[in-house]
Amino acid sequence: MKKYKRAITYGTFDLFHVGHLRLLKRVAALADELYVAVSSDEFNSIKGKTCVIPFAERAEIIESLACVTKVIREDNWDQKINDVKENHCDLFVMGDDWTGKFDFLKDYCDVIYLPRTPGVSTTDIKKILKK
Ligand code: CTP
Repeated sequence: MKKYKRAITYGTFDLFHVGHLRLLKRVAALADELYVAVSSDEFNSIKGKTCVIPFAERAEIIESLACVTKVIREDNWDQKINDVKENHCDLFVMGDDWTGKFDFLKDYCDVIYLPRTPGVSTTDIKKILKK
């Protein structure tokens, strides 16, 4: 039996790569269900990020993964407490580039930061494609 019932994680998942896949698989291994909040294009522009792949397509890719139960949309920084409560999540996970940033969620569920896969990121892929 898995330790958690429903995990949630957040990300942009632009130019989907193996670092994204491994993170999602590792989260899924901890819980019966995995909800993934995918950042909307509008939210990414607030964060100063421009996505190559539009939201609907990024969401379609994530939703089609066997390890993912459901995709929700991330529109702002402040929705996490509500998402965790509304979706009855007992685990929140992010890559360790975010360590400590979401500890306020510990009032509502367990919070874990997993090590990133070294050597791959969307930012690096975009730089390579620009050369
Ligand atoms: N991630 C990971 N290993 C990587 C890249 C990403 O574990 N090599 C994780 C991130 O920590 C995050 C999730 O995958 O929890 C979604 O990543 P995303 O927000 O899309 O960021 P990056 O792929 O790192 O893209 P960028 O370079 O634009 O930050």
